[in-house]
Amino acid sequence: MIEIRGLHKSFGEQKVLEGVDLQIPKGRTTVILGRSGAGKSVLLKHIIGLIKPDKGKISVDGIDITRLGDKDLNEMRKKFGMLFQEAALFDSMTVGDNVAFPLREHTKLKEEDVRGIVAQRLEQVELPGLEEKMPAELSGGMKRRVGLARAIVLDPEIVLFDEPTTGLDPPMAEAIEDLIMKTQRRRGETFVVITHDIQTAFHIAHTIAMLHEGRIVEEGSPEVFRKSSNPVVQAFLARGEEKEVRG
Ligand SMILES: Nc1ncnc2c1ncn2[C@@H]1O[C@H](COP(=O)(O)OP(=O)(O)O)[C@@H](O)[C@H]1O
Ligand SMILES: [Mg+2]
Repeated sequence: MIEIRGLHKSFGEQKVLEGVDLQIPKGRTTVILGRSGAGKSVLLKHIIGLIKPDKGKISVDGIDITRLGDKDLNEMRKKFGMLFQEAALFDSMTVGDNVAFPLREHTKLKEEDVRGIVAQRLEQVELPGLEEKMPAELSGGMKRRVGLARAIVLDPEIVLFDEPTTGLDPPMAEAIEDLIMKTQRRRGETFVVITHDIQTAFHIAHTIAMLHEGRIVEEGSPEVFRKSSNPVVQAFLARGEEKEVRG
């Protein structure tokens, strides 16, 4: 479904991606794990065509998106839902208007249909009836839920998550992880989650891919990953256990 080959990206002298190869299968949750500054967000932005690579290609359903013009890219982006870091809600809009935003931007649905879909999505993220609240009235975890409702409102085939649990305390992070898994199972979509949090990765991933020094250095199921003999992976796991806290 998504195939990344030989992806290179530098910013000035700084090499961020130095030959990323990764296949992201359909209908599964793939977690891209890496420390802060490893280039995870940069990689995610390539996948939706917000950044063009210096070299390499990214195919989505067989189409090389690095070659698309703005119009085709916009069309292609309708396949994607995105939950940005910190949920990135519009603070001046109600929860309902936040969730409705992609529907009003990309569809010609009648207002009553928009409202129906919004109500249904809010139910799916376990926030029924919260349409009239403002983002400032919500907890961090609730904001992520609203962000998730907005990310899936257009029924995307692929949902991308940038650090969905960062900054949440452990119970709240786990609640979001459960909801992500439940949503993925119910809808059977392709989920791509980037995180530096090992607990999140082990909890939700079908496949974990580790990004380190510009490349994918290990890839496999959480079980395979845990047993990896790769020293970079081992060091990362050891650090995570040492901390025993998130963040
Ligand atoms: N638009 C940009 N211009 C210059 N440098 C950037 C840009 N975007 C990211 N970087 C740099 O690329 C590196 C990787 O960033 P990022 O992908 O955000 O890391 P993370 O793995 O924490 O998401 C960082 O050193 C960052 O400063
Ligand atoms: Mg990031």
